[in-house]
Amino acid sequence: MTKKILVTGGAGYIGSHTCIALHEAGYDIVVYDNLSNSSSEAINRVSRLIGQPIEFIEGDIRDAESLRQVFSAHKFFGVIHFAGLKAVGESVAKPLKYYDNNVSGTITLLEVMSEYDVKNLVFSSSATVYGDPETLPIDESSKRSCTNPYGQSKLTVEHILEDLAVSNTSWNLIPLRYFNPVGAHSSGQIGEDPNDIPNNLMPYISQVAVGKLAKLNIFGNDYPTVDGTGVRDFIHVTDLAQGHVAALNYLKDQSSSVGFLPINLGTGKGTSVVELVTAFSKVSGQDIPYQFTDRRAGDIASCYASADKAKSLLGWQAKLSINEMCQDSWRWQSMNPNGYKDKV
Ligand code: NAD
Ligand code: WQD
Repeated sequence: MTKKILVTGGAGYIGSHTCIALHEAGYDIVVYDNLSNSSSEAINRVSRLIGQPIEFIEGDIRDAESLRQVFSAHKFFGVIHFAGLKAVGESVAKPLKYYDNNVSGTITLLEVMSEYDVKNLVFSSSATVYGDPETLPIDESSKRSCTNPYGQSKLTVEHILEDLAVSNTSWNLIPLRYFNPVGAHSSGQIGEDPNDIPNNLMPYISQVAVGKLAKLNIFGNDYPTVDGTGVRDFIHVTDLAQGHVAALNYLKDQSSSVGFLPINLGTGKGTSVVELVTAFSKVSGQDIPYQFTDRRAGDIASCYASADKAKSLLGWQAKLSINEMCQDSWRWQSMNPNGYKDKV
């Protein structure tokens, strides 16, 4: 059986780390990315880390002809589909851009996969599909609802995958619902490289620590949580990458189709914003000045996973601690204060 995998969005933050994990697990990879939110330098560095060039095609998932060329040239076991836009705020301002890229792009990809009879897909979904959860920890059967176009685009793709699995039972479709990915490769060579001022907590903390930003605004300290600040299930990107390998290995072992099979990737533990800031400050030895401001619109108090399904089905569980997440984020940020613009 071929062990070749198409990795859409493989130049991005999670995709680049997953490429390394796939290579280490013996998979051959072809990366397909339009570089709309990433740099070819990430591909160079992954190639260096794995000690061989990566096959990289610059292309858009909405371009069926370009995808056909790729599927004609390679016999894939399956696709890991990271390609997508992910900025919640931008999605509110530009919903059509998000639906076009994330939903139409996925439909085009699925159509081409179907043409070439490639029926194994691992899709980057998100804990955002659970909206404001009624109970914690969140398991995969929890109600889904979204309040912004980004989340809606993920939920819509999940619905499309469910319908596809019903329409033809030969599909194997695993949406992995990521909680809050943070951290970086332990080498410090690859990591998260936001284009602008970061929206997410960990890159913001890192940029305060390295002196690029003056102060962290903590959005709300009146939530019903351990210290009043938001609680999230932060998961190291290296653990997340291993979760994708586990999902593919699972698919390889199946003798019959799995249909639509959503799986959470989280640690199962909640950490508050202040707890994360304190841990980061300790491991980096840097002061992280912060102030409390109003709650951010759309934020929820607490969100953490039940990670039981990933453990029982895939044999996967997160291993790395909050301190390791902070340590690796700090190593990446301090070695590359300007991200991939810093040549190493
Ligand atoms: P990222 O922006 O770093 O990576 C996404 C990659 O997809 C980028 O390299 C981008 O250039 C590429 N891309 C976007 N649109 C494309 C298109 N039309 N054609 C080809 N390539 C395209 O983001 P990430 O953090 O690595 O996230 C990967 C996936 O996981 C995304 O789908 C995201 O929505 C999802 N996700 C991310 C998080 C998170 O917090 N980072 C959480 C849950 C889910
Ligand atoms: C975490 C906590 C903030 C920044 C988002 C997306 C979600 C998923 C992951 C893709 C919250 C607080 C943050 C800051 C702060 N992405 N915070 N100051 O909101 O849980 O999830 O990323 O699927 O869809 O919504 O992550 O890192 O933005 O925030 O106080 O400058 O940190 O209020 O409590 P979030 P986050």
